[in-house]
Amino acid sequence: MQEGNILTERKDSVLIVTLNRPKFMNALNLETLKEGRQILTEVYFDPEIRAVIITGAGEKAFCAGADLKEREKMSEVAVRHYIKTIRETLIDIENLSKPVICAVNGAALGGGTELAMASDIRIAAPNATFGLTEVTLGIIPAGGGTQRLPRLVGIGKAKELILTGRRISAEEALSIGLINKIAPEGKLLDVSLEMALSIAKNAPFAVQQAKFAINHGYEIDIYSGLALESKAYDVCIPTKDRVEALKAFKEKRKPVFKGE
Ligand code: COA
Repeated sequence: MQEGNILTERKDSVLIVTLNRPKFMNALNLETLKEGRQILTEVYFDPEIRAVIITGAGEKAFCAGADLKEREKMSEVAVRHYIKTIRETLIDIENLSKPVICAVNGAALGGGTELAMASDIRIAAPNATFGLTEVTLGIIPAGGGTQRLPRLVGIGKAKELILTGRRISAEEALSIGLINKIAPEGKLLDVSLEMALSIAKNAPFAVQQAKFAINHGYEIDIYSGLALESKAYDVCIPTKDRVEALKAFKEKRKPVFKGE
């Protein structure tokens, strides 16, 4: 367990990353973003970690977005530096070599919703709320919010939510496709861990290449996407895990994937 603005804990091959500023509703100050990027760099190359869960400490908030108390003291240049850092940190999450599940344990506002959207899968507690509130603060979502929300929920709903800055419940988030599921009360981490482990048992190269093909293929025309998919498949062909899966099928047993 690593202590600081961010806690990390291993459960089998899953790394649980917890934003740990509950007094500030887990708001993201610059220091937290820097710690996060350092952790992401280590996780990217760690073969022992096969999936990541991101959650927040405390009952109330997952993440209240940018630290507005810190922001008040920032110069214009410092604000630009912050925005660049959050944008790049969320891209690091989106492009992480492992799947990332966001376990949204309460309010996810501004950068909190953007962090959730940069993750691969979103699971929410029943009390979770979401919102891109930036225009109510004289700014716009700039941790990818104006780009990722339309891709997830469609351009019309994204415009409604971003231009009003309205906060929505977990149920509404589920109904518009912003999140994957709502966990029963008190079961958020169990449900998230169950999904993370069901991904982590699969062949790591295959999971990584599937995520790569979806992420990058989604942004281009279908024939370029299919070409990219073919190249991502090529990466899996020489792996020992692929051969192991065929052997296990023949022997009527579960495959043991080593990420080789
Ligand atoms: N940055 C820094 N501190 C924050 C914060 C943020 N984004 N959001 C909340 N806090 C702090 C509050 O200032 C308060 O500190 P205090 O006790 O020193 O006054 C503490 O966290 C608790 O917040 P409070 O508003 O009293 O709790 P709540 O349960 O009534 O509401 C939220 C929680 C998250 C719903 C509410 O604080 C909120 O809406 N925050 C702003 C979120 C937002 O719009 N973020 C977008 C930033 S771009």
